[in-house]
Amino acid sequence: MPPIPVIIDTDPGQDDAFAILLALAAPEIDVLGLTTVAGNMGLPQTTDNARRIVELAGHGALPVHAGCARPLMRAPRPVPEIHGETGIDGWDWAEAAEGPAPGHGVDFIIDTVLAHPEPVTMILLGPQTNFAMALRRAPEIAENIARVVFMGGGYFEGGNMTPAAEYNILVDPEAARITLGSGIPVTAVPLDCTHNCAAPVGWSEVLARHSQPVMQACAGMMEFFERYGNAKHGTASRPLHDAVAVAALIWPELFEGRLCPVDVECAGELTTGMTVVDWLRQTGKPDNCLWLNGCSDPQAVYDRMEAALARLGQPGA
Ligand code: RIB
Ligand code: CA
Repeated sequence: MPPIPVIIDTDPGQDDAFAILLALAAPEIDVLGLTTVAGNMGLPQTTDNARRIVELAGHGALPVHAGCARPLMRAPRPVPEIHGETGIDGWDWAEAAEGPAPGHGVDFIIDTVLAHPEPVTMILLGPQTNFAMALRRAPEIAENIARVVFMGGGYFEGGNMTPAAEYNILVDPEAARITLGSGIPVTAVPLDCTHNCAAPVGWSEVLARHSQPVMQACAGMMEFFERYGNAKHGTASRPLHDAVAVAALIWPELFEGRLCPVDVECAGELTTGMTVVDWLRQTGKPDNCLWLNGCSDPQAVYDRMEAALARLGQPGA
């Protein structure tokens, strides 16, 4: 199979960092570029973080384009209490040697999709503001997008920011609704899936056995996440949400779900940001989303991820 051409839209975030590194390491994927969005941190920080990540991985030539600095309709909601002051706490990151590429992230998405000879897959790892704006600016991009894979939402698992809403969807519910209403094949990797694909307890120690800087950085970020997990959830087992979304793209045989109608609540007093999943198809609406809700072998996912990440920074990687 030729590698899948992808654009990664991201708000690093430690789990975004794992996702980006996995995508760069995976032979199944050809990363055309990254676009950054306000999410876990403000746009300047998520953009600087994305540059630091690609440079540490030895992919400093990869374009990183800064996108939207705030959601379509709502205020930004940075969460340093989850990701630390830098957004990628856990490692002493070198300063980025280069800044973002010239040109807005939304323009990069539009121009790259329209120009690419093969349909492009969009991997959305934060609030979906950039992709929604691209669809509104140039709806014709839908004709050359093979699929959208996004980390976000929750149904059986509820939310992780409110009882009803997961972070990426809560921050920009209107954007997620535009994605789901686009007619493009969409695969959702929600909390229903990521909570069933948590990293093995103490995985940071496994990563720390590798000496290369990328693996030391991953070990440090994972250890930071494990400490957070212990503090908030009383468990050191942490799902690397965004990395699971990339894993679902490259190792689909390890994941399960159902094609069904999915929409987003944008006006509920208690339920804004809720992904409303018609799992039993009671609404009669068309199926618009493959909703993943399980992983058959989480250990295999993280063993494969460890092997892939360990190849980064090696000769010929
Ligand atoms: O709810 C998890 C999602 O929110 C992940 O993408 C994480 O990076 C944060 O953006
Ligand atoms: Ca993210």
